[in-house]
This record gives sequence, C-alpha cells and structure tokens, in this order.
Amino acid sequence: MAGLPIAPRSAKDDEVTQSFFEHSTAKRVNTDTVIATALKKQYPGLELVIAPNWRVDLLGYASAGFASFTFIPDGGGDEFPSSLIWKSYVPPARRIDGNPGGLAQDVAFGKFLYKWNNVEFILYMVDGRDGTAAYPQVRNNYLLTVDAHKADALIVAAGQWTNDLHDEVWVFDGGFWQKSAELYQSVAKASWEAVILDPDMKKAIIDDHLSFFGSRDTYAQFKVPWKRGIIYYGPPGNGKTISIKAMMHTLGNLKDPVPTLYVRNFVSWAGPEAAIGQIFSLARATAPCYLIFEDLDSLVTDSVRSYFLNEIDGLKSNDGIFIVGSTNHLDRLDPGISKRPSRFDRKYFFPDPDLVQRVAYCKFWQNKLAGNKDIEFPDELCKAIAEITDGFSFAYIQEAFIATLLMIARGTESVSGAASDDEGWDMASSTDDDLEKLILWVEIQKQVAILREGMEKHESV
Ligand SMILES: Nc1ncnc2c1ncn2[C@@H]1O[C@H](COP(=O)(O)OP(=O)(O)OP(=O)(O)O)[C@@H](O)[C@H]1O
Ligand SMILES: [Mg+2]
Repeated sequence: MAGLPIAPRSAKDDEVTQSFFEHSTAKRVNTDTVIATALKKQYPGLELVIAPNWRVDLLGYASAGFASFTFIPDGGGDEFPSSLIWKSYVPPARRIDGNPGGLAQDVAFGKFLYKWNNVEFILYMVDGRDGTAAYPQVRNNYLLTVDAHKADALIVAAGQWTNDLHDEVWVFDGGFWQKSAELYQSVAKASWEAVILDPDMKKAIIDDHLSFFGSRDTYAQFKVPWKRGIIYYGPPGNGKTISIKAMMHTLGNLKDPVPTLYVRNFVSWAGPEAAIGQIFSLARATAPCYLIFEDLDSLVTDSVRSYFLNEIDGLKSNDGIFIVGSTNHLDRLDPGISKRPSRFDRKYFFPDPDLVQRVAYCKFWQNKLAGNKDIEFPDELCKAIAEITDGFSFAYIQEAFIATLLMIARGTESVSGAASDDEGWDMASSTDDDLEKLILWVEIQKQVAILREGMEKHESV
C-alpha cells in the first residue's frame, strides 16, 4: 500500500501553509458584508434575510421537529470544501448515569435547503468571527427566499422556540445566560418535605412567595410596585440553597408556572456592570419570575455596588420580579442592601438547628434507612444523636451519618465491638446502655467526635 503523500514541500508550494499565512496577515474584513454581497450577486432574484444564530437556532428548531433541512450537495470542483463542520466529542452531563456522551456537530460554514410550513428557503450558516478571540462568536443565518415575509415569520417562530426553556432553567454564569438542564433536574427532585425548618418560618417563606405571585392586582390597587426582595442568611449548611430549590420546584408547578433565573456570578468578558445589565434585562423580559443571587456578599463588591443598587431600585420597572439573595455574612453585606427595606424587604435567618430540629433531622435519616435491614435505628437513637450534635449544622449532621454508614459498610474493625471498651469515646456513657449494642450509635459517636474536633480547629484559626 502506498504511504500518505507527506513529502515535504517548501512553504511556497504548500497551499495550506500559504493560505493560512496569507489569511492571518490579511487586513481585517467584515465577513457579514462579504457574505451578504456574494449572496446578492449569486441569487439576484431572491430576497436575503439575515438572523444571528444565538437568537434564532434554525437547525435546533428543525431538529425538534418543526422544520426540516438537507445539506445542499457540492456541485463538483474541488477548490474549496462545501462546508466547514467541526465535530467534537461531548462528554455526558453525568458520567455516573452510564451515558457515554456523543458526537456533536458544529457548523462553521454550511448551505442547506430548509423547509418550514411548506415554504422552501436556501440557508447559509456562516461563522464570522472577525473580532478578537475575546469577542463572542458571530454566527449568522442567511435565508434566501422569494418572500421575505415568510422568512420573518420563520425567524419569529424559531426565535420563540430558541428563547423558550425545554426542561431547563436559566443560569447566569461566565457572562451569559445559559440554559441548564442539570439544575432543572436537581430542582425536579427538590421538595419541602426534605427541608427541616421551624414550621412557622417554613410556612412564612412559602406564603411570602405564593402571596406575592398571586396578588398582582392588590399591588396595583394600592399603587405600589409589584416587586419584592428577601434575604436568606445564616451559617453554612442549614438549608438556604435547598429552600431555594424547593421553592423553585413549587413555583415551577403552579397553574401559571413561575420561571427561575439563577445567578452564579457576575463574571463577564464585558465586565460585571454589563453582566448586571444582562441579568436584569432578562429578568424584566421574563417577569413574573424568581431571581436568585447566591452568595450575595461575594457578588456585590464595592466596584459593582452602585450598578447593582441602581438596577434593583433605579428608574426601570422591576414589576413581577421576586428576588432572593443568600449570604453567610449579613454583617458583610452593604448596608444599602441589608438595611433598606425597598430593596430587600425581609430577612430569614437559617440558624444551626436546635435540639428539636436535630431530632427531626435524625428522624428524616431514620426514615431514609428504614428499608435497610443491617441497620437498627430505634426512636431513642434520634434523641441520642441529636443530643451529641449540639452546635452542628444540618450539613455536619448529614456528614456524620454518611461517614458512619460508610464505616459500617466497610465493616471496619473499630465497629466490630461495642464502644464501651474504647477509651476516648466516652460520650456514650450518658445514654441508655442498650444503645451501646447498636452499631450505628457506636460508630456515629466516633464520627461526631472527629467532626467536632475539625470544627473546633477550624474555629480557632
Ligand atoms: N434545614 C435543612 N433540612 C434538611 N436538610 C438540610 C437542611 N439544611 C441543610 N441540609 C442538608 O445539608 C446540605 C447543604 O444545605 P444547603 O446547601 O441548603 O446549605 P446552605 O444554607 O445553602 O449553605 P451555604 O451557606 O454554605 O450555601 C443539604 O443538601 C441537605 O442535605
Ligand atoms: Mg447555599
């Protein structure tokens, strides 16, 4: 078999090398103008309508079943390729589900025959990344048609589809609003039943949201702006985020579902001020909606403070926007945010759980483990565990349970006997002797002691 034709050529003879360097040293052009001009020349009898791809995903719209397209084949000649398609491997969103990932195609240049509602269009998709690398991708759809009105109608229909969420949630991350299917799925599993809070506070939180979204007319009647802001604050690991997710779930399942916009950071290639502008502009367009700012104190730094406050209560209307900000450090929040009711009207404190809540949380674990025949978990144990976890957050108690279950599963030597002969773990002495026979109790006391030691070290730093 003959080898591949890789004989070295001088750069002068190598077309690829030449093309690359000629291209890279050419003066800058505007691809959009070049393409539009060429299309007009090639199809003088057709109307040209141009639509940016990030707003109007024509191929996605067709792939969802609303239109169809076929590649226009090459007419011969081999000077240029007829399309530029990047193929890449897309890793699975969650490898753990056993999904191997797949092949994705990204069209940088392609021509198609596109059919929608019995109307045919010639479609060129062209990437025109003319600016610096930091500038976002400019990829346009060039639609050629006999009737520009039909193209406009297609753009509206496909644009609506592109803008809609399809089992996704809007997340602002890295300078863009993106659709997250992962967060959507995590919210689908969230429920208030798994959130242990003081019952009055839980009810107040839920009512606060529901009554806001249900009382637009009342606000109008009293001529007050229909907007609200609340803050969740308190030490880490006590339910701020899971309450937000449970509320997202509740709001998403109302008769008139309320969408959530979830802000992760203000990072943006155009600066945080632009990010804040983009965030509020989608929130206003989507309202009524639920707008989440996690870790408010780290988001709103001195340099963006005035932009943020301006968007929250400046001249533009925030009608129908319910904002939740969460923070561990209310004291570090700007007083303009924490102390001015018109911005954040109400604050809910999520403290470390008291004894009653710790017992309730242990009951939650008791239920979870009810089907497990290897683990005996009588009611008394709920109280016993709650008593030795004073000062723990829910997340720490959760960690104690998980570490304990792992130790038990590993069947380590340390759990093969009772704790009473194990010096140094004497917390058990205050509890019922019968408990000492339970492997869960024996082991969780050790894990609690280890965690407590870690907590104390952390606090003394
Ligand atoms: N009130 C609670 N009821 C039940 N489980 C809880 C509660 N609070 C925390 N947990 C458990 O701890 C985990 C972490 O909680 P969550 O993320 O809501 O904490 P957070 O208050 O948002 O903390 P941070 O301030 O660090 O963001 C949850 O996934 C859940 O398993
Ligand atoms: Mg959180």
